[in-house]
Amino acid sequence: MSEIRNLINITDFTVEEIDELIRVADDIVANHSAYENICAHKKLATLFFEPSTRTRLSFEAAMLELGGSVLGFSEAGSSSAAKGESVSDTIRTVGCYVDIIAMRHPKEGAPVVAAQRTTVPIINAGDGGHFHPTQTLTDLLTIKRKKGRLTNMTIGLCGDLKFGRTVHSLIEAMIRYEGIRFVLISPQELQVPDYVKDEMDNAGVEWKEVEKLEDAMGDLDILYMTRVQRERFFNEEDYVRLKDSYILDLEKLKAAKEDLTIMHPLPRVNEIAVEVDDDPRACYFFQALCGKHIRMALILYLLGIRREA
Ligand code: NCD
Repeated sequence: MSEIRNLINITDFTVEEIDELIRVADDIVANHSAYENICAHKKLATLFFEPSTRTRLSFEAAMLELGGSVLGFSEAGSSSAAKGESVSDTIRTVGCYVDIIAMRHPKEGAPVVAAQRTTVPIINAGDGGHFHPTQTLTDLLTIKRKKGRLTNMTIGLCGDLKFGRTVHSLIEAMIRYEGIRFVLISPQELQVPDYVKDEMDNAGVEWKEVEKLEDAMGDLDILYMTRVQRERFFNEEDYVRLKDSYILDLEKLKAAKEDLTIMHPLPRVNEIAVEVDDDPRACYFFQALCGKHIRMALILYLLGIRREA
């Protein structure tokens, strides 16, 4: 039997494997009918111990579009977690029913524990403030489709860089490509954790921190906005003080490049004015669509299924 692969952290996949996922995601769009029944009789469980719209529904849509089935829960309260069951026991049980599991959990490291308890592939759909590798695959596909490359660009990451797990995973992924520069735009209290800074230094990428979005705007090829992660704050007062630190609007975009790509993992709260949605540089809903395509490719890859040539 071949070794079971999981996706816990984006670095579990090599750059070549990510290239292959991107190739399959594009092939899915180009040859959609060839994939319609490719996962017939396969089941995906989506176990969401934390809220989600895009990640859970795009996983479910992905599996349904591949001809497979989905089951699961969308909140811990409707699972036996509410009775005190451990994550280990839940996973061990669900692993008896399905072929692949996507899980989201508020505790950092929960998917690592899960992967030790089952022989079906585990996909980390977000663990606390830690990682979110499938959002990163989504982001990489979006960047590739919009820019035609994953190299040689300046990426501005703006907002809650401390608790924003999408940011941590995206940095980990992008430091592996040539010519990437990061501008980290956040209030001092919400700067990226030191371990992420160490990883950028070890990879030898250029990065700097600024507090004002205006100080970075003109240099950016990608602007990745994030919301302030209310649920990870220890007190509401700090959240209220910091929540509107950045609001991207058309006025601020006047200083931006014409081919800037504006991204956001969503949900948006207040950090991008709705007027920006109609600007051709706004790509966040396109990004949500890319999320379905790359998750289709990921499910196939982890199940070891390829379309016949
Ligand atoms: C992100 C998440 O859950 O980390 N959302 C998503 O999966 N698209 C970002 C967020 O919640 O702010």
